[in-house]
Amino acid sequence: MLEGLRSWDGESVTTRFDAPTGTWMFVGVHSTVLGPGFGGARMKAYPSPQDALHDVLRLSAAMTAKNSVASLPFGGGKAVLAVARVPGPGSPERRELMLRYGSFVESLHGTYVTAADMNTGPADLDVVAERTSHVMGTSPGHGGAGDSGPATAVGVFHAIRAACGHAFGSRELEGRSVAIQGVGSVGSRLAELLSEAGARLTLADVDGGRAQRLADRLGAACVDAEAVMAVPCDVLAPCASGGVLNADTIPLMACRVVAGAANNQLATPEDAGRLAARGILYAPDYIANAGGVIHLAGYETLGWDDAQMAARLAGIGETLSDVFAAAERDGITTAEAADRFARSRIVAAR
Ligand SMILES: NC(=O)c1ccc[n+]([C@@H]2O[C@H](COP(=O)([O-])OP(=O)(O)OC[C@H]3O[C@@H](n4cnc5c(N)ncnc54)[C@H](O)[C@@H]3O)[C@@H](O)[C@H]2O)c1
Repeated sequence: MLEGLRSWDGESVTTRFDAPTGTWMFVGVHSTVLGPGFGGARMKAYPSPQDALHDVLRLSAAMTAKNSVASLPFGGGKAVLAVARVPGPGSPERRELMLRYGSFVESLHGTYVTAADMNTGPADLDVVAERTSHVMGTSPGHGGAGDSGPATAVGVFHAIRAACGHAFGSRELEGRSVAIQGVGSVGSRLAELLSEAGARLTLADVDGGRAQRLADRLGAACVDAEAVMAVPCDVLAPCASGGVLNADTIPLMACRVVAGAANNQLATPEDAGRLAARGILYAPDYIANAGGVIHLAGYETLGWDDAQMAARLAGIGETLSDVFAAAERDGITTAEAADRFARSRIVAAR
């Protein structure tokens, strides 16, 4: 635990053990150079509190990079609620936990602004908002911008277009083959957008029924969740979980482009080099999936209208084009080029 903290370059981690529920709460504020640390709260049963701490260190750093490249006036933060088991939606136990989490966020005096992440959503944030104003993503009925999944899907759609422009010389998606891993909130909406644009889709989900129903509706193909990483296609869109680009999967991949919504797609930094060596163009995840934070910050704190929002989501494609060009020019991976973009704004602000 101490080793993880020693090697972390962030600002602070605040910890609370919530005795009534046996929940370890960690809030990592990685950077406040560009503004308050902003990022979602992940609720999960971890093997140990050390694993939860490790996650908050890693995820809050990624939020600094994401908010920086998205040109938002926010730094990076993340919360992890390491629960013994995830309480059911709407249960009194969950409400109590969210109230206590809200008090914890309030005690940080705005250095951290919370939102939703894995296993948390607008209904939870409505409860959190009873205890703190440092929250984004409450439901529209409570004055918030609600679910950010659809905006994230729009951003990934623009990311795919930009990546195709770089890889194939055209952003046109008519006839392009795209395989989507995970058709939940983001993946299903992305599938609809790609289908409308004329792409040929292959869908996969651990919930096979969900993938099959969507495939039937869109006239798409469906494969097993284990098989999707190796499906021959122009574009692979990971929209399920992290770590899917690794030393085991990369040699099997048969795509030209990877662009998807999942956070932390690279299992290790070396995997960016592995992809490049195989001639696979990687759209760095935290740029491709920034539509969620853009949606929340734009509507809830920056006062954008729908036209401004659409332009900023489309801007994800322009940012990626710049990143691809910089990587090619400087002979570095797209992940390294993205990190440079993220750092440059923070250095300028300092
Ligand atoms: N929702 C957002 O605004 C947002 C923003 C940024 C990043 N992300 C990331 O994008 C990803 C998808 O988010 P979401 O909101 O759609 O989540 P979700 O939970 O709604 O959907 C995830 C889907 O992936 C499926 N899945 C899980 N493991 C799988 C596997 N190994 N193979 C195939 N399918 C699998 C699940 O069954 C589910 O249908 C997550 O990694 C999330 O962290 C989401």
